[in-house]
Amino acid sequence: QSVSIIRVPFGLGAGRPGSENGPDSIMKFGLAKKLQGLGYDVQADQTIRLPEGVQSPPGSKMKHVEEVLAVAGLLGEAVYKEVSGGHIPLVLGGDHSIAMGSLAGLTRHYHHLGVIWVDAHSDLNTETTSPSGNMHGISLAVGLGLSHIKLKQMVEGAVPLKPENCVIIGARDLDRDEKALIRSTGLTCYTMHEIDRLGIEKVVQEALQIAGNGTDGVHLSFDIDSVDPIEAPGTGTPVRGGLSYREAHLSLELMSESGRITSADFVEVNPLLDRNNQTSKLAVELIGSLFGSRIL
Ligand code: ARG
Ligand code: MN
Ligand code: MN
Ligand code: MN
Repeated sequence: QSVSIIRVPFGLGAGRPGSENGPDSIMKFGLAKKLQGLGYDVQADQTIRLPEGVQSPPGSKMKHVEEVLAVAGLLGEAVYKEVSGGHIPLVLGGDHSIAMGSLAGLTRHYHHLGVIWVDAHSDLNTETTSPSGNMHGISLAVGLGLSHIKLKQMVEGAVPLKPENCVIIGARDLDRDEKALIRSTGLTCYTMHEIDRLGIEKVVQEALQIAGNGTDGVHLSFDIDSVDPIEAPGTGTPVRGGLSYREAHLSLELMSESGRITSADFVEVNPLLDRNNQTSKLAVELIGSLFGSRIL
């Protein structure tokens, strides 16, 4: 099996700077070696950069729309090229707005893509409901076709996700309109409450069923702020009461064991806000679990 690492040093979709330094920081703590040690053929990694001169006009509610779309287009084409070449794309953010690019490239290839969105948030705002104007808060809504911004603007041939194959895990900070959308669209959301009650193992097994049901690929979009800030302080929108270190690892081990995950994003690592690089190192470990690393 071969993994294609795609670095996306882009942070303008977040409300504060720093996540643009995530990819280099994660790589610096040994990601490529780790994957090679697990038996993967690691493709020479590539970096998606914001083209020079792309700048949104000031004064609009959503911030940096043009920049987000430009990066998503380039990332989408790169992801499409890798999946169609038989490689597993591993996208390192950057803020969570870059997931739009991953989804655009992936849905061009997989016409029935399931998505597992591990996040403290649901990223289901639209340009109408967003309280912040930050593009990282609308990426899943864009994926589902709920925004005026469409995946097919980024990659020709991209198609919207089906809510019945989308699952959120770890939510604990939802805006009012996001809650309404979760109820009306029928996507599945395992909040921290369900994780407390059912246990993370049951939640992840159910999520794999839902995302895998009738789909030809399953994408994991992992926002590091899903993990409790005690373990992952280096992120722009931390929320207490998140996944424990053990729950986070077990989730990824179960996804690995299922053999169903065909691509992944790891986003929102912000080295400027980190303590002793704890969050970058955690990201490397968690990616290891997704790709088969085990204690024994
Ligand atoms: N719901 C808030 C917003 O729309 C926060 C989103 C945080 N998203 C993230 N990917 N960290 O701005
Ligand atoms: Mn997110
Ligand atoms: Mn096809
Ligand atoms: Mn989040």
